[in-house]
Amino acid sequence: MTETEVPSPLRGKKILLGICGGIAAYKTPMLVRLLKKQGAEIRIVMTGAAARFVTELTLSTLSGEPVSKEVLPETEANDSDWTRHISLGEWADAYVIAPATANTVARLAAGICDDMLSTCFITLRPNRPKILFPAMDGEMFSSASVRRNLAWLSENGCRIIEPESGDLASGQCGTGRMPEPEIIAQIIAETFAETRQKSRLTGKSVVVTAGPTREKIDGVRFISNYSSGKMGFAVAQAAASRGASVTLISGPVTLQTPPGVDRQDVETAEEMNREAGKRAGECDVFIGAAAVADYRPETPARGKIRKTGATMELTLVRNPDIIGEFARRKKTGQLAVGFSLEPTEELHHAEEKLRRKGLDLIACNTFDGETRGFDVDTNVLTLIDGRSEPRRLPLLDKREAAERLLDAVEELMNEQQPEDHGAGLAV
Ligand code: C5P
Repeated sequence: MTETEVPSPLRGKKILLGICGGIAAYKTPMLVRLLKKQGAEIRIVMTGAAARFVTELTLSTLSGEPVSKEVLPETEANDSDWTRHISLGEWADAYVIAPATANTVARLAAGICDDMLSTCFITLRPNRPKILFPAMDGEMFSSASVRRNLAWLSENGCRIIEPESGDLASGQCGTGRMPEPEIIAQIIAETFAETRQKSRLTGKSVVVTAGPTREKIDGVRFISNYSSGKMGFAVAQAAASRGASVTLISGPVTLQTPPGVDRQDVETAEEMNREAGKRAGECDVFIGAAAVADYRPETPARGKIRKTGATMELTLVRNPDIIGEFARRKKTGQLAVGFSLEPTEELHHAEEKLRRKGLDLIACNTFDGETRGFDVDTNVLTLIDGRSEPRRLPLLDKREAAERLLDAVEELMNEQQPEDHGAGLAV
């Protein structure tokens, strides 16, 4: 990307697309392609009737993900997958229902959950946009019941995009046509762009440290840890998508730089500390997600240490406490957010760390090698700010955990400077 190119607001966004059984469903494969082209991830839920208009095979091929219709798995082989309605609701940054038929509009307004599409409507996380594109015959669209149901959905936080006028499948002319895929994609992008405006992090400077550090023993060996950097990269990506200017100071990892993030690669804790120090003065939020080696060999050998005796002694010295340094010097309005990896979920160690290092917020996490900790895609965080009750988040994808962490950061910013601009939560 060149410096002048502005990334699409759809880039990196996770969009759940709900397709109902109306003729306008034929436009959805093109919509999926357009959204993906602009960098969004798409998962699709469809009603049984929708599958009569557009095939599951087409949609799963274009989205690259299986399509869901029913809440309970459709084959016994997928029995363990029956909580997908929850994970999809947690996953999505926005839920777009296009086309939304009269029947589905009525079911959603009534809170009925008899298939995957309607169930995800209520499992979607609060603050995530729900955008409905009603499409039906003109008479149906102007009927009292459809108007009432749409009005109720609109009053309850849904964005309803009025259909266009023109030729309808019935052969009549009227209001009921679903907009073309290009227009739908544009409306979704605008919704994200508007929501981004409301974030407290928009225009703020955020520094994130991520990954492990390597501490040289000699020219060919080092001390390190298993940190993958996934959590820190997810935090950097989430902050950038909220409009923050993000510097990601990363130890050696194999991850791609998230879009719109300025990345500085380092190897040792001392290098990470130097890079962090350069930005400490002007950053608004410092998030220490790196697994910094606590100690480094006192005097690394230049070449390769030869093996001699049966044992070998290595003298280690303490590394600088990067986030601790930042917190010690921080000015009013700057926030220091750390992580605390603990062998057990006893929170007092993390609470003690929060106080000792002078942090504003700490995310305590444990490791089990399977669902939490290093080199896995999910995590369980408990957010502690030392004033309110610790908040334990459920097992979440690291990207979702990063969003929740930033929601908490924005809450702290609101408390500190309530007069600052719009206090909405971002997606
Ligand atoms: O002391 P401990 O390593 O458990 O603290 C973890 C937190 O402190 C994390 O946020 C980590 O990024 C940060 N840290 C640091 N510099 C160190 C050690 C840890 O910034 N030398």
